[in-house]
Amino acid sequence: MPKKPLAFIETYGCQQNEADSETLMGLLLAEGYEKAPSPEDADLVLVNTCAVREHAELKALSNTGKFKKLKEQNPDLILAVCGCMAQQETRANEIRNRYPFVDLVFGTNLISRFPELLREVKRAKLRPRNRRVFCVEDYETNPGTFTEGLPVARESAFSAWVSIMYGCNNFCTYCIVPYVRGRERSRAFDAVVDEVRDLVDRGYKEITLLGQNVNAYGKTLAPKRSFAELLAALDTLDGDYILRFMTSHPKDMSRETIDVIANSKHIPHQIHLPLQSGSDEILKRMHRIYDASSYQALADAIRAAMPDCTLSTDIIIGFPGESEEDFRKTLQMISHVRYDNVFAFLYSPRGGTPAAGYPDQIPHKVMTERMERLLALCHTISLKKNASLVGKTLDSLVEGESKTDAQMLTARSKSGKLIHFPKTAQGVAAIGTFVPLTISAAHATTLIADAIDDGKDLSL
Ligand code: SAH
Ligand code: SF4
Ligand code: F3S
Repeated sequence: MPKKPLAFIETYGCQQNEADSETLMGLLLAEGYEKAPSPEDADLVLVNTCAVREHAELKALSNTGKFKKLKEQNPDLILAVCGCMAQQETRANEIRNRYPFVDLVFGTNLISRFPELLREVKRAKLRPRNRRVFCVEDYETNPGTFTEGLPVARESAFSAWVSIMYGCNNFCTYCIVPYVRGRERSRAFDAVVDEVRDLVDRGYKEITLLGQNVNAYGKTLAPKRSFAELLAALDTLDGDYILRFMTSHPKDMSRETIDVIANSKHIPHQIHLPLQSGSDEILKRMHRIYDASSYQALADAIRAAMPDCTLSTDIIIGFPGESEEDFRKTLQMISHVRYDNVFAFLYSPRGGTPAAGYPDQIPHKVMTERMERLLALCHTISLKKNASLVGKTLDSLVEGESKTDAQMLTARSKSGKLIHFPKTAQGVAAIGTFVPLTISAAHATTLIADAIDDGKDLSL
């Protein structure tokens, strides 16, 4: 039997990109490839890029640059670039001109056509002058209707992504996503329910529903459906599983959705609710639709319905024109809501977005100084919240060996907390299942738990 060719996918960006990479790998396996353990072993390397901040783009570009060496060692290597960065014409052209060793570039609305494009590359490679394939189609001309039933090579045997909608209509003035992912479109209700049912039946324990704005789910379907309806339907499936979802936009978080989560069997009380800024003036210029007081009322309503709800958020520091006073309002909101987790980003101007042209861009030094203050505040709050969990027992999904310490295992509580605990044989046997873990110590971002003890210490 001839050896199967090997493929490696390097993924940047959000969970949506990770989910897309699992589909792209599924398509490659169907084309006769096998997964390569590293890019060095691969016959095909695909870089799935992100464009949300400049840093993400530069990282993807510089790593793509590094593959030049592999190509020199193996001229038959196929090197492809896709994802949100590649979807932008300027970046696609940059790759065309400055990365001549890249064979294929395709956009986010062409995932289902990947096998066909790959065959085109292989045909092109047979020609005397090694031609390259560039296929980036504007969302205006190709709205990115998606194909159900594409094969998915899932990375995990117990944790799965399920995209329920694609694209975004919000056009926050700083954000590139609506340009590189197109307009909001929801998958059919039954298709989502069938996929989740199949995953639960196959023993998946954690299913995360994905979309840029999941709580706008169903608005474009006929007949219209709602995210609350979808959650309620999925919650009725029989099995030992939890349902998570990413990301909710505060403007679309309905009372029904809060009630469904509060009364559900399988949906942990955990909501990621991006604030971005606590200043009305900045929120207006970000085009976020809500103001600080309506956001605060929403967070209060969530806490009233679910006092144990874990809340996390995204903050942008240094949006153009952000004054010290504006920034203090963000700190005030953080102090009020007392998030379990805050993801803070320095504002990064994105070409083609309105905010990139706004006056009063904030100097980098001011942004980093604000970042330090914000992180210090969040650290104090998270530490206090986590300390209150010491001695408590949290039902948690064991994920595997800790990435930083081979003597420890990592788990995530149903409420979303990251937990490390000593590795024992029983702990290893519990990977991919829910176990009760008793918290023994707390840091700001992680908890430490007692071992699931069987008396055997694997480190000995
Ligand atoms: N759809 C999600 C966010 C996707 S992008 C939502 O609206 O919640 C993830 C986060 O990246 C955003 O919440 C925002 O905080 C941050 N982000 C997006 N564009 C950015 C930019 N230009 N500069 C800095 N951070 C940005
Ligand atoms: Fe970007 Fe705003 Fe859409 Fe989120 S809601 S993806 S921040 S435009
Ligand atoms: Fe990045 Fe695209 Fe996700 S820009 S954050 S990979 S949708």
